[in-house]
Parts: sequence; structure tokens; C-alpha cells
Amino acid sequence: MLEIVEEILKIKKEFAKESEIISDIKEFEQLRIKYLGRKGIISSYFKQLSKLPSENIPFVGKELNSLKNYIDSKLSEIQKKFTVIQKTEEKLDISLPGFKRFLGKKHPITKIMEEIQSIFSSMGFDIAEGPDIETDYYNFEALNIPPEHPAREEHDTFFLMNDMLLRTHTSPVQIRVMEKKRPPIRIIAPGRVFRRDTPDATHSPIFTQVEGLYVDKSVTFGELKGVILSFARAMFGKDMRIRFRPSYFQFTEPSAEYDFLCIFCKGKGCKICKWVGWVEISGAGMVDPEVFKFVNIDPEMYSGFAFGMGVERIAMFRYQINDIRLFYENDIRFLDQF
Ligand code: PHE
Repeated sequence: MLEIVEEILKIKKEFAKESEIISDIKEFEQLRIKYLGRKGIISSYFKQLSKLPSENIPFVGKELNSLKNYIDSKLSEIQKKFTVIQKTEEKLDISLPGFKRFLGKKHPITKIMEEIQSIFSSMGFDIAEGPDIETDYYNFEALNIPPEHPAREEHDTFFLMNDMLLRTHTSPVQIRVMEKKRPPIRIIAPGRVFRRDTPDATHSPIFTQVEGLYVDKSVTFGELKGVILSFARAMFGKDMRIRFRPSYFQFTEPSAEYDFLCIFCKGKGCKICKWVGWVEISGAGMVDPEVFKFVNIDPEMYSGFAFGMGVERIAMFRYQINDIRLFYENDIRFLDQF
């Protein structure tokens, strides 16, 4: 074989060996210049080409070209590897400040709800639940609101098919619990309720209530007031006062609405309580004997009280929020404050 062809093969082997041990872009550059540079090995062989006997030129030229191509492709392979590494190094710039991860938080209504639950748990109340989709029977009839009764109109109900509806209050849970359990019964029932109200600062078509129910032998209205007062003080401090105003509900007799003293003006009247001095929370009363009949509890033997609680109202009072819609718009700037 021609001496020069042997040399070409040797160069190829040497290049292969050297290219194996390239460890950075600088070494790569040196290798490239050594072989492919203007004064590099390959170009010096091309220069020798013309000195060869003319019959050998095409063959040797071909061999040289294929060596050059081989080195070329090998080099660009190596270069690719280094640019990838370089890019990753750029991505991992350890001098950059870290990314801030935003921590999730509990919704203010959830927080208030958990507080309410823990206060009533400490007073010995269990937690009961009922479905959001109710039947006419549980939402109205068993609560002593018969079909066609005008009291239904106040509820602005979302009706569904087949006598189903979205519950307008948590009071149906009273019936569900009393159907299953015999007194003594001491539960609260937190949950979402639905009314066909047009949203405004104090109305939302979905809101949250906590129902309370206590049934035993000789439960009195005085105990109802005691439980509400203890709750109010646990929630808002020992100076809290409450008041009951006579009212009417189909499922309690007697019935009342109850208010908390405005903690911001102590009853004097301010912007928060709209100059009333008191903040309305919900309704309450003694379980109507008619309701006991629906669940087979003997009204001669047992008595009980029930109360509702507007969770948004308590949250608005606690956090001085003047628009209920803020709870449902999920604006991070609002939610981030709690
Ligand atoms: N369910 C009534 C309402 O939503 C409140 C209430 C509950 C009244 C329990 C009396 C007893 O307005």
C-alpha cells in the first residue's frame, strides 16, 4: 500500500483516540485546530497531494476527503455534546435568586367554620352532615312547612327534577339526624345552602350555615341562650353580649332571631354594624312538637332547641368585610390576607 495511505489510516486512529479524551470546550478547540485548522494536519496533506504521481492523486484525494469528513462529523458530534452541557450549566446558574413558591392557605370561610366546629365540639356537640341536594320532604315538609304553605316563598328555592331541590338551609339535617338517632341528641351540621338571590353586598346564591340541635329530657330556652352566649364569648371574647328578638319559624316554637353585640363600637353604633349596635346572626328556637311527630320522638317526653348560624356573617363581622361576594370571587389579593 502507498505510504501516504497508511499515514492517513494512522491519523484517523490517532484522531479517534484523542477525541475520546476531550473534556472541555477548550480542548475541543485545540483538537479542531490541530486537525482542521488552516495549518493543520489535513490541510498539510492536501498540499502534498500535488507532489504525488498523477495516477495516485484521485485515490489518495478520495481517502483524504473521507478522513476530513470523518473528523468533521466527529468534531460536530463532540461540539453538540458540549453546547448541551453549556446550556444546562446556564440553566443551573447558582447565583440566581431562587423561585418563590406561594403557599396555599385556608379560605376564610373554612377557617371560621373550623373555629365554630371546635368551639361546639368542646361543648359536647357531634358533627352531622346532610346532602346539598335534598328532597321536598326534608327541606320543607318534615320541618312543618306543608305544600302550598306561604312560608315556602321566603326560601327562594332552586328546584330540580322529581321533587328534588338544592337545600335552602341546613335544617333538613335536623330531620335526618332525628330519624336515625334517639335522644339525647347534640349535633351541629355545617354546610352549604342555596337560594335564588341576586348577588349583592349581603346576598349570595350560595352561602354557608351551621345548624345546631339539642334534644333531651327537659331542654329549655334558657339552655339555648346559654349555649349561644358561650359560643359568642368563645368566638369574640368574654365581653360579648347577645340578644334574642321574637320571630317566627315553622319548625320552632317559640322562635327567635339572635344578634351579637357589635364588638367594634360595643353597641354604640358604627359603620360595621350599620349604626344598629348589634349584628344579626340567624334564627333559633325550641323544636316544634309537630317536627318531633315526623321523626317519632315523643314531644311529651322530650324537648329540644335548634339554631342556625350564618357563617359568612360571622366571618364578615370578625374580619370587617363589607361585601359577601369577596368570599366567592377568589381574588388572591383578598384571600392572601387571612
Ligand atoms: N333554618 C333557618 C334559616 O335558614 C334558621 C333556623 C335554624 C331557625 C334553626 C330556627 C332554628 O333561616
